[in-house]
Amino acid sequence: MPFYRQQGELPRKKHTAVRKPDGGLLREELFSTQGFAGAYSTRYRLDLPTRVQKVRELPPPQTPAWPKAPLQPYHFFSLEKPAGGDFLTARRIFLENDDVRFGTIQPNRSLQAFYRNASAHELVFIHRGAGVLQSEYGRLQFAEGDYLVIPKGVTVLVEFAALVNNALLLIESAAPFEIPRHYRSEGGQILEHAPYCERVFRAPELGEPHGEPGDFRLLLQTRGRLFEYALDRHPFDVAAWDGYHYPFAFNIADFNPVVGKLHLPPPVHAVFHTRAAMVSNFVPRLADFHPEAVPIPYYHSNIDCDEVLYYVRGNFMSRRAVREGSVTLHPGGVPHGPQPGKIEAALGLKALDEWAVMLDTFAPLRLTGHVRKVLDKDYARSWSKP
Ligand SMILES: [Fe+2]
Repeated sequence: MPFYRQQGELPRKKHTAVRKPDGGLLREELFSTQGFAGAYSTRYRLDLPTRVQKVRELPPPQTPAWPKAPLQPYHFFSLEKPAGGDFLTARRIFLENDDVRFGTIQPNRSLQAFYRNASAHELVFIHRGAGVLQSEYGRLQFAEGDYLVIPKGVTVLVEFAALVNNALLLIESAAPFEIPRHYRSEGGQILEHAPYCERVFRAPELGEPHGEPGDFRLLLQTRGRLFEYALDRHPFDVAAWDGYHYPFAFNIADFNPVVGKLHLPPPVHAVFHTRAAMVSNFVPRLADFHPEAVPIPYYHSNIDCDEVLYYVRGNFMSRRAVREGSVTLHPGGVPHGPQPGKIEAALGLKALDEWAVMLDTFAPLRLTGHVRKVLDKDYARSWSKP
């Protein structure tokens, strides 16, 4: 996150003794990334962040493989046949490579534990649902249309307002989600041509630190393994923090789309970059306004990208048979574009009414066995039908 934030009462200088009201010392903890070269924050805790009572290994969530999936376009219904579960166990990973994992979460139970993903940054798009993301950094309310960015290693407690009808899109990334470089000045400030500004990014609000002893459970996911930590202090005992590393939210409705006289490619719709992927979104906007414009995408082959589109709602002019929660995958090496009749139908269009989230990965994605269970089997050949 390229914006500096601070919460609570901070000492004027780092690495100095800071007292609690009872005279004891606050414990300064640096949370740094990429050695000391990435974003970091400094947290002041009531107690030692290193306290732990017991560690045991649990079986990690399993994703079935689909090693023989042919190279072709895919369409599948990612919200169908949900298995249920909590914020961790309800995850279904459909696509993955060594940098990125893409899936959905439809929690119908609450996770009775703190959770920390120490292997991946998590980007959660709230398709349906609302609630509160609690972390060491405070409380962050979320609602429909929000992107939640949970940096790698942040401990969270996620509470949903209701445990029915929640639908979340999940993108896990080994590298951090960042504001795309073409939106930023050399110093990191968001430039005037960007589709959003700093003011629409929401940070957690820190309340009173939890100082109470008790029995607390932390699930730590890392390196393909899952561990349970038994803690005797509440992990959200931070009295103050500052820096650039914290969870934040951004609502898709705060994205101001850029439109052109003729069709503009996805980099104008980018929301976040990582070193291995780009996340973009499509929101309702005026159509390209040249009198002869084709206002939907042209056919294209992007040999170095796998392109994944998650359909949120609206009318998707370039696709047939998609519905809420539909996902299309167009792998590099195979051309893609509108289905028969779609370009003709789109000519003269004045506006587009679509909400979708797109993931482009710069390395090929593997399909998992979850795709097979919710597959639209006709999609790959749908361009050959009138
Ligand atoms: Fe495309």
